[in-house]
Amino acid sequence: MSAHLPHLGSGLGYRRELADGIAASGTAVDWLEVITEHYLFAPADTRQALRELRSGHPLVPHGLELSLGSPRPPDPRYVTALAELVQEIEAPWFSDHLCFTRSDTVSVGTLTPLPRSRAVARDVARRAQRVQDEVGVPLILENITYHIDLPNPLSEAEFIAEVMEHCACGLLLDLTNLDINSRNHHYDVGDFLDTIPLERVVQVHLAGGTQDPDGTARDTHSAPVPERVWGLLAELSARADIKATLLERDQDFPEDFTEITAEIDRARDTVGPGPAPAARRAAAPAPGRGRGAR
Ligand SMILES: [Fe+2]
Repeated sequence: MSAHLPHLGSGLGYRRELADGIAASGTAVDWLEVITEHYLFAPADTRQALRELRSGHPLVPHGLELSLGSPRPPDPRYVTALAELVQEIEAPWFSDHLCFTRSDTVSVGTLTPLPRSRAVARDVARRAQRVQDEVGVPLILENITYHIDLPNPLSEAEFIAEVMEHCACGLLLDLTNLDINSRNHHYDVGDFLDTIPLERVVQVHLAGGTQDPDGTARDTHSAPVPERVWGLLAELSARADIKATLLERDQDFPEDFTEITAEIDRARDTVGPGPAPAARRAAAPAPGRGRGAR
């Protein structure tokens, strides 16, 4: 599903606190990810600011409120507005999370993990496919962190693979979330990468977090990307055709913006030109796996 998508390069999550640095950094930031809900149903001046942002960088909307795991399908007004936003900024794809943020009509207010069963995975896949079809460009789904892991029939990787099996959407693999979950829930990242369909990875997220005194890792987007995550990016880029990397920094912003651009440069250098076709074929699943296999 992603063969035709452009390579956007190495980007940054747009935050107001980073705007001056982005503007002053010339071509150091290849593209920007913007929070969908900041611009849906927004006043004219906010949409104008978005268009100005678009004049300098390719943009991709990253949503928080699609809530694909809710019992009800997404609000049609939200999906229509999302399609208009994607069209307005000419986004090559858009993203949201494998989670729910709303139970029926009640907002949970946070990205909440789903029960990992085949039935839930297929429901999520069906809703994701419908949204993708209505918006008209690929929807890529992100793995989240979770701190309580109730007994589930499927592992996290098996659940992701099951979702991908039943829709033609892509993956936004947050490598920091993968690192954090593997440490907090004691699973092997190699097994995870061997289980998910790597040919569906379109984009990655990179961030740095914190660690509680008891050793629990947290995804706070407040620190430089740790070496473990850079290692994961190197491993993944040898096995998948990553279209774009994205640095997430939401707090504890460095005073010197070159600390940000140094990480953006490192992500670009780590991914390089992508794997040789033979390596990508070796990483691909058996023929017939997944409706959306390219
Ligand atoms: Fe992320």
